[in-house]
Amino acid sequence: MFILAAAGSAIGLGNIWKFPYMAGKYGGGAFVLMYLACIGVIGLPILVAEILIGRDARKNPVGAFSVISRGNRFWTAVGFLGVASGFVILSYYSVVGGWTVDYFTKSAAGSYLEANPGRINEIFNQMLANPWEQAVWHTVFMAATMGIVIFGVKEGLERWIEVLMPLLLVLLGVLVVYGLVAGDAAGGLGYLFIPDWSKLVTNAAGEYTPRPMLEAMGHAFFTLSLGMGAMITYGSYLGDHESIPASAVMVALLDTAIALLASIAIFTIVFQYGLDPTAAGPGLVFQVLPLAFSQMPGGRFIGTAFFLLLSFAALTSAISLLEVVVAHFIDDRKWARRTATVIMGTVIWVLGLFSAFSYNLLENVTLLEDKEGQGMPILDSVDLIATNYMLPIGGFFIALFAGWFIKQQVRDRQLLDGSGSRAFYRAWLFVTRYFTPVAVGLLILFMIDKHLGIAEWVFGGK
Ligand code: TRP
Repeated sequence: MFILAAAGSAIGLGNIWKFPYMAGKYGGGAFVLMYLACIGVIGLPILVAEILIGRDARKNPVGAFSVISRGNRFWTAVGFLGVASGFVILSYYSVVGGWTVDYFTKSAAGSYLEANPGRINEIFNQMLANPWEQAVWHTVFMAATMGIVIFGVKEGLERWIEVLMPLLLVLLGVLVVYGLVAGDAAGGLGYLFIPDWSKLVTNAAGEYTPRPMLEAMGHAFFTLSLGMGAMITYGSYLGDHESIPASAVMVALLDTAIALLASIAIFTIVFQYGLDPTAAGPGLVFQVLPLAFSQMPGGRFIGTAFFLLLSFAALTSAISLLEVVVAHFIDDRKWARRTATVIMGTVIWVLGLFSAFSYNLLENVTLLEDKEGQGMPILDSVDLIATNYMLPIGGFFIALFAGWFIKQQVRDRQLLDGSGSRAFYRAWLFVTRYFTPVAVGLLILFMIDKHLGIAEWVFGGK
């Protein structure tokens, strides 16, 4: 079933861990609306494009680009960029996946149940500071991902997705209701949905920076699993008579709903405790929801269930990342599945150790600067490179490929057969040909320009 597999890939840490802390860091409402716009005019068109390419070629991304373009070197290289993105993303995704498994055990043991923000922060920071704890849970998470990819238990997994995804949605619903009733509903909702547009182009010191806009766009790629061909792989599972646009809209809606619900559950609690919404960073979900679990009746059980479901959602996303890497070696280079998974998984695991050690042994190593100009830890830096550079560049070429390069008959057949709506098709083609490449291209130029400073000169920063 395509919808289940695709939703399993899309819904993950991006929705529940990353989106809320980004919305907090980049100023709330304006960022949230910019993100919703990016999902609509960049994410959805590229999601349709990837599914279309995948169903037409019925291959992994490298194979798909190579077959459709008849071995054109340039397009094949775009497929390889996707494999590289999978490598990079999975390396740190697995570390954060490890945190969720760690918190599952902490919840079951009841070790954070004390409605005290200071103590709960300390528990999170102790976890980060312990290199062994980081390495062990990263290893556990990566081993689980590799195990599932080796044994290829796709059908079994989908049966679980079918049960556990709705459960996650219900549990988030419960947390939202709890946050709105027991937390600060006005504070949380106001922060998330009332835009202060200046926040989109300035940093904390009021200087010009395009970073929040770029982050919103990058996150649209990340959260929908776009820009590296994961959805090309899953598009190859879509039946010939199912509608691509309808499936894509369904996946995008579900994914967005989960991100917004998680944010509401978190920010109502943030404001109840008078915490600083911009300050938490990657620890947000681990530092705030435990406060809610500490106060609510049955919190230990609910917290345990929550982190278990979140671990599972992370696992189904990680599988899609590893699958893209492995599928290329299996299909195009004829490696055995087990060999490909063990070798590639091990390389990714080693790469991930650098992220696992980025808040302890390697805490003084910083790769990039954050929006305040401070050095960022390895994990945060690698995430930024993958999400804001690699995925948008991949997505830019995927849009061009689907909009211009693929034959007209293929597009028509893929999108119009059956119940395809002509209006949607026309709108999609226009947006994918003109709007998406221009918007993504401009944002990529803005990113490069960060180092040149032309926009800062034009918009007059300080
Ligand atoms: N979309 C997933 C999330 O939100 C992460 C993910 C899985 C991903 N596969 C991907 C991101 C492919 C980019 C590309 O957690």
